[in-house]
Amino acid sequence: MDSAVIEIEKTAAYIASYENKAEVDFEHCVTDHLRVSGIYWGLNALCLMGMPDRLNRAATVAYIRDCQQPNGGFAGALGHDATMLHTYSAIQVLLLEKSLRSTDGTMADTIDIAGVIRYVAGLQQPDGSFACDEWGERDTRATYCAIATLYLLNGLDSIKVDAAVAHLMRCQNWDFGFGSVPDTESHAGQIFCCLATLAILNRLSQLDQRAQQQLSDWLVERQRDSGGLNGRPGKIHDACYAWWTLASLAILDPSGWKSRINLEGACQYLISTQNRSTGGLAPRPNERADVFHTHFAIAGLALLGHASIQAVDARFCLPTLALQQYLSQTP
Ligand code: FPP
Ligand code: ZN
Repeated sequence: MDSAVIEIEKTAAYIASYENKAEVDFEHCVTDHLRVSGIYWGLNALCLMGMPDRLNRAATVAYIRDCQQPNGGFAGALGHDATMLHTYSAIQVLLLEKSLRSTDGTMADTIDIAGVIRYVAGLQQPDGSFACDEWGERDTRATYCAIATLYLLNGLDSIKVDAAVAHLMRCQNWDFGFGSVPDTESHAGQIFCCLATLAILNRLSQLDQRAQQQLSDWLVERQRDSGGLNGRPGKIHDACYAWWTLASLAILDPSGWKSRINLEGACQYLISTQNRSTGGLAPRPNERADVFHTHFAIAGLALLGHASIQAVDARFCLPTLALQQYLSQTP
């Protein structure tokens, strides 16, 4: 394998093989409760690479549909409780499937949309934040997943949007980054969640000029000499931060961010994380590949404008074309 080239076919084969792994496989067992998000990571990466048919999509959609619980939310796997994160992953998969089929049908043909909206709205807390599940753990990931889900399902009028925004702003720190809850360290993953949420709500103006500039600088500083990015100061580079960090930057500064990053270095770093024997991409070169890092590395390459990969929407982490098609068909 030429180390300077992204091996599309080998990456697709790695994702497809993951779907078919036997239930007894160790890796499969330990990640089984994440299966719905795993399906999103796999299918989205395949869509971005232009190979959606490498997964058995009919079986995938049937599985997702069966994960909807009586409370309206989606579990990560059959037999588990619903969570906000898996609910957003399920909606992302159904959106991809709907855009691939290009039919006039709606998602309501397959799932209970009103139930999803009720579930998400029911997770909003008195302080405006959202819980990750009915047991109450809260963080900005849950707020992002809630707002993105409701936006895509036309259900934002079922929640208190101003309270959600006020809560996110309480998670902002002295360095203008965001943590998972108020008074926690700034982290690129949480910054992505907060900026993407504000962008979806058209509320990026909550951050004044100085805050936007300083946060952009903080994000640009995440690129290491290797070309890879980390998620906070003092940490090692990791392929997934090509998504969390660069998508945050792209949301903040859509027209200027590319001139502030070593694009070629970032691409080469991601390509160097390919596992040459198994296929798939890993956090760092010569490490074990997994579907999470494979997906976010491919999404990172999409953001960076790699010629073999389709454009991606930085707010929703979905192919731009699929998202546009879905939104144009949705009343
Ligand atoms: C590791 O943190 C965490 C990640 C690599 C994921 C970060 C992403 C998010 C928090 C956003 C997730 C959003 C959704 C919608 C699922 P660490 O502290 O172990 O890693 P570090 O050492 O790199 O900081
Ligand atoms: Zn990672």
